[in-house]
Amino acid sequence: MDKFVINGGQKLKGTVKISGAKNSSLALIPATLLNTSENTIYNTPEVNDIHTMIKLLSNLGAEAEFNNHTLKLNTNYISSQVAPYEHVKKMRASVYVLGPLLAKYGYAKVSMPGGCAWGPRPINLHLEAMKKLGASIELEEGYIIAKSSGLRGAKIHFDISSVGATGNALMAAVLAKGTTSISNAAIEPEITILANFLKEMGAKINGIGTTFLEIEGVEQLDGASIENIPDRIETGTLLVAGAMTKSKITLDCVNYEHIESILTKLQESGAKIICNNNLLELDCENINISGVDVTTAVYPGFPTDMQAQWIAYMALSEGTATITDTIYYDRFNHVPELIRLGAKIEVTNNSAFVKGVKKLKGAKVMSTDLRASACLVLAGLAAEGTTEVLRIYHLDRGYQRIEEKLRSLGADIERLPTSEF
Ligand code: EPU
Repeated sequence: MDKFVINGGQKLKGTVKISGAKNSSLALIPATLLNTSENTIYNTPEVNDIHTMIKLLSNLGAEAEFNNHTLKLNTNYISSQVAPYEHVKKMRASVYVLGPLLAKYGYAKVSMPGGCAWGPRPINLHLEAMKKLGASIELEEGYIIAKSSGLRGAKIHFDISSVGATGNALMAAVLAKGTTSISNAAIEPEITILANFLKEMGAKINGIGTTFLEIEGVEQLDGASIENIPDRIETGTLLVAGAMTKSKITLDCVNYEHIESILTKLQESGAKIICNNNLLELDCENINISGVDVTTAVYPGFPTDMQAQWIAYMALSEGTATITDTIYYDRFNHVPELIRLGAKIEVTNNSAFVKGVKKLKGAKVMSTDLRASACLVLAGLAAEGTTEVLRIYHLDRGYQRIEEKLRSLGADIERLPTSEF
């Protein structure tokens, strides 16, 4: 087990490169199960969730080669349609194999994901969509058994906008006979790139980037290549790192169109930002951090995956801020840890009320999930003294060697082995 030891208070400076997006890769990889060819995904991040997804596909029979962020997947020899409990309990996104396996092989056995660190995360919408497409769904010994003798196009409407359910329904529909429509589809960039990848394979999809997708099923799909998008949450996290430490930094390989809601909020808080093609310059030297309220929402709203980092930032503001999460009502496990560093925060229902303090003070804190870990690292960078962040295996799921990136910007952060849990 590793921990981070951070000596806070250093200003950051310089340029750092943003990695490919984890959440889009987690959809692009299982999409390759829809063909029986060679596929290439460029700009795949080297993070543990991606290794877990590659392992899952390898267990199904795919041949994988992962070098220097280029992932090649050959899906010609798929011999199993089972996503076992060991995988799904490690990573809920494993459920993304359901749609492709069912559509391509007429059968999928996928372990039902349990709760997650911040409460229930149901998959009812995924299952309802598969049923609409004509699949039978049964639950046996904790596994979803999905069967079909040929999916048929259908009208699917999601009452809640869901990234995962939209992705799964889309992957199933591309091989279903006839036309499928998906209304109230998620429009997150991770879904748009998935749809573009499926089109590269030969799928017929209209309305990409909108909440209404129309899919004309095809008989088979070919192998394809795609360049993955930059990770918008890593971009946002590093921007907040720069802002919290009142620094001037540049991020390379970004897509600022994907993070407009974050940029707007940062500017409201006092940050100066210049976007120049793939470069994003943040200047927060000498700023007074204003308190800025945030309510998370589906894209293009402020992402729930930046909620924890924003609370950490606001803990050092010169005012107050209310941060409301409308996507995940219970996602506040980071708050008691931030309080250990001296933050003043109260949580009521799905809102955190933050009263800015002059300084945070280093302490030992514990990560509870991926974005909670990121927020604790940010707080540690800005705090006085030494902060130890335990259980950083959560962070390693989704950030590619963040300590190296931060160190290259001048942060004093070290990864050390520990027996503490
Ligand atoms: N929901 C349902 N039923 C479903 C599916 C979702 O009620 O069948 C609800 C959820 O409980 C939630 C809302 O719908 O309230 C939206 O959830 P969504 O399905 O969009 O989330 P997801 O697809 O499971 C992805 C990301 C998450 C990110 C959310 C929201 C991946 C692999 N994960 O999850 O990322 O928080 O969208 O944007 O794409 C992270 O990276 O730290 C992370 C948790």
